[in-house]
Amino acid sequence: MKQMGGNEIIHGGYADPSPYPEIKVLGENKLYAEILMDDYAGGVSEFTAINQYLYHYFISNKEAEEVANMWERISITEMHHMEMLAETILLLGGNPIYRGSQNTNCCCWNAGYVYYGCNLCGRLHADLMSEYEAIRNYERHIKEINDPYVQAILARIILDEKVHIEHFNKAIGKYCGW
Ligand SMILES: [Fe+2]
Ligand SMILES: [Fe+2]
Repeated sequence: MKQMGGNEIIHGGYADPSPYPEIKVLGENKLYAEILMDDYAGGVSEFTAINQYLYHYFISNKEAEEVANMWERISITEMHHMEMLAETILLLGGNPIYRGSQNTNCCCWNAGYVYYGCNLCGRLHADLMSEYEAIRNYERHIKEINDPYVQAILARIILDEKVHIEHFNKAIGKYCGW
């Protein structure tokens, strides 16, 4: 992803315009790597977001073509976040397999984490809530991880999640009547 250049090309306006920080760490720290496993492939995680938004894109119909396009583009942005986390976990001495942290019994990621939903508005609301929860988790992990490089990576991801909140709110306003 890094070599592709131009965030605009990759994310098509569904990410914050500011540059991404270099992926580096102060030093190996398996505890910090473990904390990031929840953001990477836990219940509320980048991997869940990728698959949830992709499903919402697959199932969306022609009447909401712009929402379908939004879901696809946001999913691609979450793939970039997942890649950033995988690289960071590796540098910290962890192994980015698809599981949550020891706090969640290292459970392997499973398709039950995805909110599939029954209609467009239910899906948009669930997606909005998952973005808020992702931000809360990242903010907590920024406090727990005493490494300025990792903190910068998580803070930058939060900026993109805030852009996603704006887009989901806009879509809810347009298609859900409030
Ligand atoms: Fe994300
Ligand atoms: Fe997001």
